[in-house]
Amino acid sequence: MPTESASPSAEQLPARTAAVWAALDPLVDTGVALRVLDVGGGSGMFAVPLARLGHTLTVVDPSADALATLHRRAQTAGVGERVRGVQGDGDLLHEVLADDGGYDLALCHSVLEVVDDPAVTLREIAGALRPGGQVSLAVANRAGGVLARALAGQPADALAVLGDRGPAPGRPARRRFTPEALLALVEGAGLTPGAWRGVSVVADLLETASGADPADVRQLELALAEVSPYREVAAGLHLLATRP
Ligand SMILES: C[S@@+](CC[C@H](N)C(=O)[O-])C[C@H]1O[C@@H](n2cnc3c(N)ncnc32)[C@H](O)[C@@H]1O
Repeated sequence: MPTESASPSAEQLPARTAAVWAALDPLVDTGVALRVLDVGGGSGMFAVPLARLGHTLTVVDPSADALATLHRRAQTAGVGERVRGVQGDGDLLHEVLADDGGYDLALCHSVLEVVDDPAVTLREIAGALRPGGQVSLAVANRAGGVLARALAGQPADALAVLGDRGPAPGRPARRRFTPEALLALVEGAGLTPGAWRGVSVVADLLETASGADPADVRQLELALAEVSPYREVAAGLHLLATRP
């Protein structure tokens, strides 16, 4: 059973991920302990707070360094026994997890941008979920990337992001998504998408430019995350999808 009633979306968490935690809260703050798979979970930015809520985490990540940091963080937070790190690739989950499927919840945050093939990764994640299990997806939003570069005084870079080109000849573009592309990817993996949110509509833009109260920025993020036309220009997109 969860050991804490306080949700990880509480005051101290950064405004830029407030919309993600707002989507996760109804799933993770119910008093029921879940089996959670965090694909590309890195050093545990999400895994450790979820373990502190009483959930059991398996983090799959190819980076030995990130997994070592995850292990340290989990130990320090007193949840080492509920956090397992597995070195591996999101495109090959069936190999690294073997028969270890049936997860209630999977996270795939800021990872589809860097895997070899996001469609393969998402199908692998779908296969690791139990029927009715859900995946939380967070990806970079192309429109937000264009806007951020334009506002930073980098119009050439903004045009490159708009055209899905790299920042310089020969340098590949970081993969970015549109809401439509993300929805198509989810449906292609046989998952049922829920409503999508904008993640960090203003927080990243404000970071360097303003002395605004972080609590006010967090409130603004939560108010804008599900509302058009604001969510369309957020730095990121978030979606919960369900395995039928
Ligand atoms: C930007 S970090 C995101 C970390 C974490 N998900 C978060 O939101 O804080 C991207 C992570 O993806 C991992 N990664 C890179 N290639 C991967 C792959 N093929 N499969 C799974 N994870 C991968 C990296 O090692 C890194 O930890």
